[in-house]
Amino acid sequence: MKALVTYYSETGNTEKLARAIYEAIHVDKELLPVQEVKSTKGYDIIFVGFPVQAHSVLAKLTPFFKGLTAGQNIALFCTHGSLRGGHLPKQALEHAAGLASGAKIIGTFGVRGKVNEKIIDALMKRVEHRTWAEEAQGAHEHPSDMDLSDGKEFARGILAKIGR
Ligand SMILES: Cc1cc2nc3c(=O)[nH]c(=O)nc-3n(C[C@H](O)[C@H](O)[C@H](O)COP(=O)(O)O)c2cc1C
Repeated sequence: MKALVTYYSETGNTEKLARAIYEAIHVDKELLPVQEVKSTKGYDIIFVGFPVQAHSVLAKLTPFFKGLTAGQNIALFCTHGSLRGGHLPKQALEHAAGLASGAKIIGTFGVRGKVNEKIIDALMKRVEHRTWAEEAQGAHEHPSDMDLSDGKEFARGILAKIGR
């Protein structure tokens, strides 16, 4: 059983969640930023994490998702400024799942991640960002210890789902 936990992170939130997921799984495992993944072959499960940007996944991650082998088990996770469980992060996870259309999505998970106040102020002025930017004002304590512990539970649940 071999697992890869890979992530893209600009301000460290998604990396924190990736590290929690990595810690929780007790199998042969690797933790790597997406940019450093040379091959996605040979893993029984790949956890892929990203920050939600503009309700979606950054375009630069598209080649990674499209490059996954058909039938590859993957679990998607993200961090986002908007409220947990809302439709906006769900939409971003769906976009990612659409890009990885050949892969088998075992599960998805998202928690909030703090956003720099200057960025929030700037984005509040742009109508397409206002909804999430308003919600993101309350995200400064995230990802919290509880978020990370939920992330660990998510990771263990994924391994259980694939029978490990
Ligand atoms: C340019 C930009 C766009 C963003 N767009 C969204 C968004 O549409 N929805 C949302 O909930 N959060 C949005 N965020 C907030 C990030 O998703 C959040 O801060 C995330 O935890 C950052 O993760 P990272 O530290 O791993 O980069 C945006 C942040 C930036 C900088």
